[in-house]
Amino acid sequence: AHAAGSGATIDLHNTVTGEPLKLDEALANGHDTPAVKQFLSTGHNPYNEVKSCFPSGKSLFLTACSGCHGEYAEGKLGPNLGDNYWTYPINTTDEGLFATIFGGANGMMGPHNEDLTLDEILQVMAWVRHLYSGPVQDAPWFTEEQKKNYAPYKLETDAVVAKADGLCAPSNE
Ligand code: HEM
Ligand code: CA
Repeated sequence: AHAAGSGATIDLHNTVTGEPLKLDEALANGHDTPAVKQFLSTGHNPYNEVKSCFPSGKSLFLTACSGCHGEYAEGKLGPNLGDNYWTYPINTTDEGLFATIFGGANGMMGPHNEDLTLDEILQVMAWVRHLYSGPVQDAPWFTEEQKKNYAPYKLETDAVVAKADGLCAPSNE
């Protein structure tokens, strides 16, 4: 069965229970942007490595995630999200990462369907992917092109966010 609501053509399941994700429990705004539509039909986050999405993604991450996962996802109360170890290997896919954020996992990892719009979830995901510092062969979410250009995230050399213009729209099509 496909996830309920939003006309998704991909299968999205709760990371822990495997129940179909209830997309009709998403916030009303930001549920039908071009990026959300593309994600729901392809399972790929079109915001990945789109620099103009980094400032909003980072800001949302600092509000909703960093208290538990650390400012750079290095781990705190919740696990490190920037290395290549995943409690739930499905999080190496955009569909899995989306499902974990939307529907939550265990314990403190609650669902974020009431504080982030679907589009904002994609923005946060792009930032989480950008913070990745593991081997590129363990990062199946990147396109072949992105893999070629991949360099592990390094805090010391990160100037991307300061330079980006703050607009979040896929500019690579
Ligand atoms: C687990 C992302 C917010 C606490 C996870 C996992 C992801 C994730 C991807 C699974 C990691 C894996 O498979 O190894 C996020 C994002 C957040 C967020 C993007 C913001 C939108 C939070 C908050 C808390 C939290 C606010 C604390 C209140 C945890 C804990 C786990 C976890 C304790 C482990 C849960 C388990 O193993 O089932 N998070 N998280 N997270 N997160 Fe978050
Ligand atoms: Ca990890």
